[in-house]
Amino acid sequence: MAAKAPANNRLAQINQAFHGFTAFHTLTIGAELNLFLQLGAWPSGLTPGELAAQLGLHAPYVRTWCETAFANAFLDFDAQTGRFRLGGGLEELLAQPGHPNFQGGFLQMFGTYFSQEFLELPKLFRNGQQSSSRERRQHFAALLKGRGRSRGMLFESRVLPLLPGLPERLRAGVACLDLGCGAGSFLLYLAERFPNCTFCGVDVDPHAIAMAQEGLRDAGFPAGVRIEQLEGNDLRYDAAFDLATMSLVLHEIDYDIRRQALTDVYRALKQPGLLAILDFPYPSCIEEFRNPAFSMGVIDQFYEVAWGSRHQSWEEIQAMLAPLGFSRFRREFLAGTPYALMVAEKAG
Ligand SMILES: C[S@@+](CC[C@H](N)C(=O)[O-])C[C@H]1O[C@@H](n2cnc3c(N)ncnc32)[C@H](O)[C@@H]1O
Repeated sequence: MAAKAPANNRLAQINQAFHGFTAFHTLTIGAELNLFLQLGAWPSGLTPGELAAQLGLHAPYVRTWCETAFANAFLDFDAQTGRFRLGGGLEELLAQPGHPNFQGGFLQMFGTYFSQEFLELPKLFRNGQQSSSRERRQHFAALLKGRGRSRGMLFESRVLPLLPGLPERLRAGVACLDLGCGAGSFLLYLAERFPNCTFCGVDVDPHAIAMAQEGLRDAGFPAGVRIEQLEGNDLRYDAAFDLATMSLVLHEIDYDIRRQALTDVYRALKQPGLLAILDFPYPSCIEEFRNPAFSMGVIDQFYEVAWGSRHQSWEEIQAMLAPLGFSRFRREFLAGTPYALMVAEKAG
């Protein structure tokens, strides 16, 4: 008997999700195997056989990948030469690793790292334990390295114009703390742009700190920049910084110690001092879970559900910061990006 057609478009919705899953893995495999990079180096395109030979891959599998990537409009095809080439406008996104919009590392991260994470999730949903991915996180820190720099650029181009007086003060030179500095690329970008400032980056993860130290060495150990391995609730600074930044960190600080970590940040700030949090905004009410402005927060909470990560709504963040002494709260959505800037002051 023929299957009965669904009475509504719910089957189409599920099929669309399946197509999205396939398209996404076409991207992650292309990033992992350098298929996009190779195609990007050959503007007139390559046949699947040429592409496979250049990368030492199995040609029949590469043919299927090319055809699937074509089906998803990531590749174009030249019927005369039988060659596939990168779709127009995708070069900087998929084939130019130095470009700030390059997505390759991010796609690899999801292809390799989170695929493993998801295999473990059903078990963790049953037993309530945390993910065993701590060891794999060193790769995660490495992959975040490139993104940290683009967040630095975003901070300069989109965040600073929202904070009157701060660009001038940064140019003149102030003391900055970057809590959860990760591989250090966010902080190093700002140090490069504002050489009169001092920067102190702290992070709890030894792998991230090792990478940040490497970055520091590659940058020629800029004067006034230091990196320390410290847990956020173990900061021992008193009125030492004018600005504290937390770039994609707040939601990752273990919830049990989060209040203490922010208490330490408050103490570490001078009076007046500014706390600038850059993070994915998280919904305050159920309706906002369907609001695209919050979609990255919702996605991130799902991916990190078993890490101990916990995103908080803006109201929750303010309720946590206010009793510590912070005031003059302000949140700005950075349109066209998944981020929001959340600012709190240690008022003078
Ligand atoms: C998503 S990464 C962001 C790294 C960097 N700020 C950036 O923008 O690329 C979050 C970082 O927060 C760090 N972190 C999490 N909890 C922390 C804590 N309690 N104290 C210090 N760092 C912490 C993690 O180790 C990780 O390096």
